[in-house]
Formats: sequence, structure tokens, C-alpha cells
Amino acid sequence: MTIIRPFRPAMGIAADAEIIVIGSGMAGMVTALRLAPRKVTLLTKTPALTGGSTAWAQGGIAAAVGADDTPQAHASDTVVAGAGLNEASTVDLLTHDGATRLRELIASGAPFDRGEAGEILLGREAAHGHRRIVHAGGDATGRHIHKWLADRVDQTPSIDVQTSAFAWELAVQDGRVGGVVAYHAGGGWTLHRAPFVVLATGGSGQVFQRTTNPGEGTADGLAMAARAGVKLADLEFVQFHPTALVDPHATAGAPMPLLTEALRGEGATLVDGAGRRFMVDEHPDAELAPRDVVARAIWQRLVDGDGAYLDMRAIMSGPSAAHFPTVQSLCAAAGFDPACDVIPVAPAAHYHMGGIAADDRGRTSLDGLWVCGEAAATGVHGANRLASNSLLEGLVFGHRVADDIAEKAALPRHQPDVTAPSVPGADAAAEIAKLTAQLRALMYEKVGLRRDDAGLQAALDVHRDIAERLAEIANQAHPSIVFPDDVRRWGELRNLALAGRLMTLAAAQRCESRGAHYRIDFPQPAAAAGVRQFLTLDDLAEPGGAQEGYRDDANTTALSV
Ligand code: FAD
Ligand code: SIN
Repeated sequence: MTIIRPFRPAMGIAADAEIIVIGSGMAGMVTALRLAPRKVTLLTKTPALTGGSTAWAQGGIAAAVGADDTPQAHASDTVVAGAGLNEASTVDLLTHDGATRLRELIASGAPFDRGEAGEILLGREAAHGHRRIVHAGGDATGRHIHKWLADRVDQTPSIDVQTSAFAWELAVQDGRVGGVVAYHAGGGWTLHRAPFVVLATGGSGQVFQRTTNPGEGTADGLAMAARAGVKLADLEFVQFHPTALVDPHATAGAPMPLLTEALRGEGATLVDGAGRRFMVDEHPDAELAPRDVVARAIWQRLVDGDGAYLDMRAIMSGPSAAHFPTVQSLCAAAGFDPACDVIPVAPAAHYHMGGIAADDRGRTSLDGLWVCGEAAATGVHGANRLASNSLLEGLVFGHRVADDIAEKAALPRHQPDVTAPSVPGADAAAEIAKLTAQLRALMYEKVGLRRDDAGLQAALDVHRDIAERLAEIANQAHPSIVFPDDVRRWGELRNLALAGRLMTLAAAQRCESRGAHYRIDFPQPAAAAGVRQFLTLDDLAEPGGAQEGYRDDANTTALSV
């Protein structure tokens, strides 16, 4: 009998690093810069530092830096948006440290927009009681601030940047992290050993068919941590942005262009196909109601066939248009003129409040592993995030993680002995693409803006089937040709599938509606349910069975070192 064994390529070992940071968004770069001159290896999966959501941010960064504002007022707005699930102590850190960190960033020359007298301009967004959003290049905040940080990273000799480096698995030994296994597009499988590892891998929007997130948002950090047994939190809370542009010519599943909430802050309205302004009947704050309220109202118009459109003609035909160059070019690329046309919109997965459970210094439940930015769940956002609080989160908690690590003495190194995972090759590419599309459609339909038990249980069944299929594919892998893109797509599908399944389980277990989590069958908040939900991979275990598909031998040898 011929026994087909999974193909296992060779594993290289990188020179020992002092600290590994994974991710080059706001959170990862702030952490690495703050750690200088301690030596940091910064891994990022894109060919340049520019990957991730940070560079796509439009609205700006919220902080109480205005004369009439206070960190307490910012905290109070954050807690109202969070619907009773925020951790009060981390919210205080976010808003107090946040004002200080933002002032430092401004003082060190970050290019925020200023008025004629040199004052920092402050914008307004939904559910903020004050104008407190600083921005750069109008609605190109992320691009400008990301570039400013990336230039500093490039100029910092203690940071060794490695691009096109896909972090695959944490290497864990004796209950603590000893490094990370990564696939390098130019150099194959490499074990990076270090006693301190920081996950700053961003969000998970790509789990859903409709998302504003770039292709990098595939929940890699969340899934890696889950497979290592790390505690996760708040997974059911996914924020859908109400106004993603519906481009009739876009490829199915492509990221949807964002029409920033700042437009509604400046007076843009939402109308149905008959031109009726529908948000005035839905909420006293109309278009500036909390995001989940606006998103569900739009969803309902789309389900009812009434259509939903953002009307920004008054803004885009006047002098304020100069503040929205990104919106202008996104509309033009989709064939619309926002000065003349109302623009079709739909809700799209935008931000994950849940993630890897972390304390106020970014420590996780696994020794040696820290997390910050969107990948983290510190409880700062509760059940719903206030607009423009996430770049601030990366700034504040990136600093806190770095300071916590910097206080520590160098630890003894482990010598994890790992083997490379098996990866299906070009012959499996079509099935991987199909499974990815199936998973994303399932999540948008059954685990999206409106959920109920029947849909969530049906989704869990499909997740189980997908997990079994992934295990089969991995265990049969013996490819003749593997391209770097095949490795990344396969790795991302494994991560999306695990993250999606855990998110579905968390949503099924929260039998109430709260913040961004809306259950048709439990439309009200339940007082008894007003606590955070923590999960680990073990919660997926079938009664009397294994967690098939995740700890399959072919893909998790890196874990069991
Ligand atoms: P990211 O910026 O997403 O960076 C993640 C990094 O991890 C990337 O470098 C990626 O390449 C890397 N990575 C991921 N997986 C791996 C892996 N396996 N191996 C190696 N590297 C990996 N928030 C605001 O506060 N204000 C706004 O105005 C705003 N506007 C937004 C507009 C859009 C269109 C979107 C999508 C989001 C917006 N947000 C905004 C949210 C905010 O941008 C993100 O929450 C924030 O940028 C996350 O920062 P981060 O550093 O945690 O992750
Ligand atoms: C936006 O500009 O509408 C997005 C801001 C955010 O997600 O914080």
C-alpha cells in the first residue's frame, strides 16, 4: 500500500532576535519605535510597510486636545458607544494617555491639518459630544500618518524590517513563546526565535464578504493565538460601517471603498431611492446616530428594496470638497460624481472590537506574548467602538506594550525545534479560492448585522464541514509546485476559517442584543448578559471529539515544540 505523507519543506533558522513585532500598522510601528534602541525584528506580510488598515484610515484620530474638551468627556462618549461592556480602567488610559500621546505626536512633527493661525483643526464624528478628531490631508489621515511613521521606522537602525514575511504560527515551548514561524516570499520557511513576541496584526474584516478592510485583514494574529491556546475576548462584536460605497463594477468580495463618517459630521444625509431622508425617523441624532443604528437602518432599506444613498452634493459642490480628496477619487473611480450624484451605500464589516484578550499593558494569557491595536481586546471599546478611537488605541497601547517589555530583563532563550508545515500547491488554488468565497458569504449572511439562532447554528454546521475539508487538504498536501501566493492564501484561509468559526460560536452564545451584536430573536439587552465573553480554542471541541481542522498534525507541528 502506498502511504502519501504531507510534503514538508525545509525550515531555516534566523539569527536570534531580541523582540519580534508582527505587523506594520499604527500599533506595530509605534511599538517598534518606542522600543528603540532595543533591537526589534519587524515582520510584515506585505511587500512594503504600507499594508493593513492604518494607511486607509480617513476620518482621523480622536483625542481630547480641544480647549473645551476633557479626557473624561471623551471617556464618557466611549462608554456610551460601548453599551456597558467597556473596561473602565482601559478607557481612562485611552482617553488620558491618548491626549498626551497625540500632543507628543503633533509636537514631533506629524503632519496634522492646521488652520490659518496654525491651530490644529478638529472634526466631528457620530456619537462624539465634541469636535475632537484630528486629521491629515483632509480625509487621507491614515496615508499621511502611516507614511510619517514608516519614514521613522526606516531611519531607525535598531529596527530590522522584513517584508513579504507571513507569520504562520507561534512557536511555544514549556508554556511560553519562543518565537514565530514565518514564510518569506523570497526565502521559504524560517523560524525566528525571540523571548518577546508582539502581535500587531490588525483586524479580521476579510472574514466577511463585504468589508472596508484591505486584503491583509484576515485575522492572522487572532487565529495564531487561538491555536496556541491563548484566551480570546468579545469575538461576537464586529462593527459594520454604514456607508461603504457600492461600486457596481467591482469584483465580488473586493474591499469596499469607505465614505467617511466625517461627511455626515459635515452635513451629508442618507436618503432612500425616492429621495426621502430616512434617519430622521430612526433616531434623534439622525445621520449621527451610533454606527450600528445607522447600519441597520440602511440594511433594512436594502432588504426592502428601497435603496440607500449618501447625499453629499452640498459638501462636494462647495469649498468643503477640498477636505475630502480621498472620497472624491474613490467616487470617481466607481464612475460617480459626488457633486451631482447621490452615492449608493451598504454596510460593510469594518472593525473587530473582539480579539486576543489583553490587559492594560497588552499582556496576553501566554507568557512572552503581547498584543496591541485592532488584534487586541483590552475591553476599551466594549460592544461598539466610537469612531476614530482605533488609531488612538494603537498609539496608546503600542506605547504601553513597548514600555512593559522594556522594563523586562532579557529572558533565557528557548530552542524551539519545529518543522515546516505542509502547504497545498498550485493544484489546490481553485478550491482554496472557492472555500474562501463560501466562508465569507456565509459570515456576511448569517453572522452579519442581523443574527438569529437558526442562522448561527446553520453557520456552525457549515464551519464544521469547512474545517474538515481544510484538514483533508492539509493532510494530503504533496505539491509539485508551490508559489508564495499559494502559501499566503492557504494560511489566510486557515485563519479566516478558524476566526469565523469562533466568532460564530461567540455570537450564538450571546443571547441578547448589545452594541454591534444584534439578535433578531433577542432584540433587547439582557441585564444578566452584560459581561464580557472569553473563549479559547477548547470551546470549539465537539462533545467527546477533537477540534478537527485546527490541530491537525500537518499544520500545527510548529505549535508543539
Ligand atoms: P493594521 O493597520 O491593519 O496593520 C496590520 C499589520 O499586520 C499590517 O502591516 C499587515 O501586513 C500585518 N500582518 C497581518 N497579518 C500578518 C501576518 N500573518 N504576518 C505578517 N504580517 C501580518 N480608525 C480610526 O481611528 N480612524 C479612522 O479614520 C479610521 N478609518 C478607517 C478607514 C478604513 C477604510 C478602515 C478599513 C479602517 C479605519 N479605521 C479607522 C480603523 C483603523 O484604521 C484600524 O483599526 C487600525 O489602523 C488598526 O491598526 P493596527 O496597527 O492594529 O493594524
Ligand atoms: C470613518 O472615517 O468613517 C471611519 C472612522 C473610523 O472607523 O474610526
